[in-house]
Amino acid sequence: MKLSDTKATLSFSNGSPNVDLPVYQGSVGPDVIDIRKLYAQTGMFTYDPGFMSTAACQSAITFIDGDKGELLYRGYPIEQLATQCDFMETCHLLLYGELPNAEGKQKFSRNVTMHTMVNEQMQFFLRGFRRDAHPMAIMTGLVGALSAFYHDSTDINNPEHREVAAIRLIAKMPTLVAMAYKYSAGQPYMYPQNDLSYAGNFMRMMFATPCEEYQPIEVLVRAMDRIFILHADHEQNASTSTVRLCGSSGTNPFAAIAAGVACLWGPAHGGANEACLNMLYDIQRQGGVDKIGEFIKQVKDKNSGVKLMGFGHRVYKNYDPRAKLMQETCKEVLDNLGLHNDPLFKLAMALEKIALEDEYFVSRKLYPNVDYYSGIVQRAIGIPVSLFTAIFALARTVGWIAQLNEMIGDPEYKIGRPRQLFTGSTKRDIVPISKR
Ligand code: SDX
Repeated sequence: MKLSDTKATLSFSNGSPNVDLPVYQGSVGPDVIDIRKLYAQTGMFTYDPGFMSTAACQSAITFIDGDKGELLYRGYPIEQLATQCDFMETCHLLLYGELPNAEGKQKFSRNVTMHTMVNEQMQFFLRGFRRDAHPMAIMTGLVGALSAFYHDSTDINNPEHREVAAIRLIAKMPTLVAMAYKYSAGQPYMYPQNDLSYAGNFMRMMFATPCEEYQPIEVLVRAMDRIFILHADHEQNASTSTVRLCGSSGTNPFAAIAAGVACLWGPAHGGANEACLNMLYDIQRQGGVDKIGEFIKQVKDKNSGVKLMGFGHRVYKNYDPRAKLMQETCKEVLDNLGLHNDPLFKLAMALEKIALEDEYFVSRKLYPNVDYYSGIVQRAIGIPVSLFTAIFALARTVGWIAQLNEMIGDPEYKIGRPRQLFTGSTKRDIVPISKR
C-alpha cells in the first residue's frame, strides 16, 4: 500500500488536540484512514459493528467494485475466468497470483488429484451422526477432524506446511462432501478416481454406486466446475474474515477452515442458496407466479421477518456479476436437459423481474446475488437442496486458504483482537444471597 499525500485530521469540539491520521492508497478501490495509533493518541476506539466502513486487512487476491458490479480474482474479471478457465486454473491463480501455463496446470492438478483420498478413519466420524444430520453439521465436524490426521502440515507459520495443507484441503473437500451425501442417502462411499477432472471426480463420487457407474454429462460437469469458480473467493466476507481471525491465533489451517465452514452455514451468508430454493418451493406450493405479489408484500412488511433470499448484498449495490453467470449456466443446463420450461426457473425469473421494478428493492439497491440462481442449477444437476451450502464451502475453501496464507505470510500480521463500547454495569459489590 502507498502513503497518500492526503492526511485525515480528527478534530474535537471539546478543545482536545487535533489528531493527524495517515491515508493509504491501494492499487484500486477506496483509500483507507490508518487508525492503528488512534487509541494510543486519543484513548478512544472507533465504533463499526458489522464492519460497514472498516478495512480489516490489505489483500491482493480479490477486488469487488460494488457500484459497478465488478469482481476480479487477481485482476481477472470473473466473466472471463468463468468462461475461459476451469476451477484448477482458478485455484492456482488465487493461491499463487498467476494463471498457470499448460505444464503448470497439469502439475498443480496432478498434485491435487494425488491428495483426494481421506484417511480411512474419517468414515468412522460420520457414523456418529444421524443419517438425517444436515451436511453442514457433518462438514464442520469432518474439516476440523482433518487436523487430527495431518500433524505434518499443521504449523501455519511453516510455508511448506501451508502449501501442503492448502493442497490437501482443496483436494479432500469434494471427497468429504460426497461422503456426507452418501451417508445421508445410506449408500456406500465412492473412492476418488485419479483419471477424472476435479468436477467430474466430485460428481462421480456423488452419483455413482458400486452397482452402476456414473456417466458424466459434459454440460453438467462444466456447470459444476463453473459453480466452483463463481464461489471460489469474495474478498473479506463473513466466513473469510472468520478464517482470518481464527488463523491469526496461529491455529492449524484445518481448524481455521472448519471455522469458515461453520460461519458460511448461516442463511445470511452461504446458507442463502438453500433458503432461496426453499423460498421458491414455498411460493410454488402456494400457487406460483400468481402468488409473487403476496410474497413481495410480506417481504416489505418488516414485521413478517420474511426476506427475499438470494437478494441483497453488503458490497454489491448493483447486479452481482456471479448471479448473471449463474443464470446463464442455469439456462444452458436446463436447455440441455430439455427442462427449458422448468417452472421453478420461470418463477425465479418472474420474481426477479417484479422485484427489480419495485421501489422497495430499487431504493435499497437490492439485486440478485450469487445464491439466487445457484440452487436451481444445482437442483437440475441432481444435487439435494441440503447439500448446496456444503458445495459452496467446497468451492470457497481455496479462497479461505489463499486469504489465510496471505495473512500469515504478512510479516506485519498480529492476532486479531477487537475492542468494544462497554454499556454494562460499572463496578459494584456482591450482596450475600441471604440479602438478595
Ligand atoms: C453471500 O459478503 C459476501 O461477499 C457474501 C457472499 C460471498 O460470496 O461470500 O457474496 C455470499 O453471503 C451472499 C448473500 C446471501 N444472503 C442472502 O441472500 C440473504 C438475504 N440477504 C440479506 O440478508 C442481506 O441483503 C445481506 C445479509 C446479504 C446484506 O445485508 P446488509 O448489508 O447488512 O444490509 P441490511 O440487512 O442492512 O439491508 C439494508 C436494507 C434493510 O432495510 P431497511 O432497514 O433499510 O428498511 O435492505 C433490506 C433490509 O431489511 N434488505 C432486504 C434484503 N436484504 C436487505 N429486504 C428484503 N430481502 C432481502 N434479501
